[in-house]
Amino acid sequence: MAHANTSQPDPYTVRLTRLTLVWVLTALVLFPILAVLGLLMRTMQSGYFQAVPPEWFYAVMTLHGLGMVGLWFVAGMAGVSFLMARYVRPTLAVSWIAFGATLIGVVLLLAATLVGRLGVGWYFLYPLPFHSGGTWPGWATGTAPAARLEKPAAAPPTSSTPASPSWPPS
Ligand code: HEM
Repeated sequence: MAHANTSQPDPYTVRLTRLTLVWVLTALVLFPILAVLGLLMRTMQSGYFQAVPPEWFYAVMTLHGLGMVGLWFVAGMAGVSFLMARYVRPTLAVSWIAFGATLIGVVLLLAATLVGRLGVGWYFLYPLPFHSGGTWPGWATGTAPAARLEKPAAAPPTSSTPASPSWPPS
């Protein structure tokens, strides 16, 4: 006779699952917004919004490109953290700090691109960010790398406490 699996996930697992769902939800909210920015760029290239100054294309592209790459990086790390819970138990406080820092990074990126009109795209290619031709101010040049630094690994394994062998079911 088959027996129902009545084992309950332990509190760590419950908290990790909640945290991972927060990361997933954040990715699901941000992805469509960033994708719409991509469509907006193609629309601009096809001749619509001609009254919009051209530097806005590059500001939107910077927001879209850095946003997409950063988003998939942190969402991927959150997924890896979840799977790695089979073997190690990372300190969840670190992952919450990473989540808060990521939100700060998003705000900094929004400020650099939508307020400062930073349009460099690849902000790390020296000396590109330092030659704005008067398009974006110096603070916007510094804000993009700062936004990137806000995104550490979603949850670095700072504890090696072995995971419960009974969960997740293999
Ligand atoms: C989902 C729908 C997406 C749309 C409609 C879209 C659209 C675009 C468009 C129109 C550009 C400007 C290309 C150009 O004219 O040079 C662009 C650039 C870029 N996109 Fe996307 N994209 C999407 C998803 C993604 C994803 C998933 C990523 C990364 C994970 C990404 C990363 C980038 C980057 C890094 C650039 C800058 C490329 C450069 O510097 O030349 N995009 N995207």
